[in-house]
Amino acid sequence: MKIGFIGAGKMASAIIKGVKAKSFTVVLSERDSKASLTVANRLGVAAAQSHQELIDEVDIIVLGVKPQMVETVLAHLNINKPLISMVAGVSLERLSQVTQPTLPLIRIMPNLNAQILKSTTAICRNQYVSDQLMATAKTITDSFGTTFELPEQDFDTFTALAGSSPAYIYLFIEALAKAGVKHGLNKKQALEIVTQTVLASSQNLLTGTDSPNDLIDKISSPGGTTIAGLLDLEKSGFTASLVSSIDATIAKAKEL
Ligand SMILES: NC(=O)c1ccc[n+]([C@@H]2O[C@H](COP(=O)([O-])OP(=O)(O)OC[C@H]3O[C@@H](n4cnc5c(N)ncnc54)[C@H](OP(=O)(O)O)[C@@H]3O)[C@@H](O)[C@H]2O)c1
Repeated sequence: MKIGFIGAGKMASAIIKGVKAKSFTVVLSERDSKASLTVANRLGVAAAQSHQELIDEVDIIVLGVKPQMVETVLAHLNINKPLISMVAGVSLERLSQVTQPTLPLIRIMPNLNAQILKSTTAICRNQYVSDQLMATAKTITDSFGTTFELPEQDFDTFTALAGSSPAYIYLFIEALAKAGVKHGLNKKQALEIVTQTVLASSQNLLTGTDSPNDLIDKISSPGGTTIAGLLDLEKSGFTASLVSSIDATIAKAKEL
């Protein structure tokens, strides 16, 4: 099966790595043919001369341009192949308005962990996507991580919790490491300590039966260090501040 990527920036490049490993054939088309060739050579895939040439030769198209480029890029193309869009905030309805009303359309929301084939990806479809095509789309998304089928109405929330949240998690890691430096550790060591702890804490949740609150209670000895730190964290509104940042992310996704 041949997959054609229109727009191959950071996210599509990460995805292409997984897709290639699953033996799909990949061709891409970028802003212009020179850019296509440069990116294709870097990723070890083929470059198309134009978006239309790509559409004509592939089985499935993957759209990886920025939200504000969608109408400009799709408007003058004759699209007669199923389209998978990774574009944040752009609905199936909006995609069908710029392609054609009965085109099979799939929306996915990956995250940058696709770089290590561990993306958490949401997927949904319109009514013109057969079960077989959906299964193929899931084979594609499973090639670069884990797939969650969600109703489209939950995509903006998913975008915040999984698409954008790695940035918030990196900020959290960076802040903890800075605290380590403040108290005398060198930065490299502090980052390594914090990163390993975050990784193992996630694995503990995924592999065990304890909820986050169960684990918090287990770590917080009466009168101990952790409860002192936890209460201080909430004094500065940690939970409220995080929820507020998710609200802002969802609001922005709805504006795109
Ligand atoms: N990054 C994330 O973590 C993430 C997560 C989930 C979803 N997404 C979605 O993935 C999409 C791509 O994001 P990204 O972070 O990969 O952005 P990006 O790196 O800027 O990728 C967009 C690519 O499209 C190219 N492009 C610009 N105009 C084009 C045209 N007319 N035809 C074909 N390609 C064109 C850009 O080339 P130039 O650089 O030359 O402009 C760039 O290589 C976005 O819609 C975003 O919402 C991203």
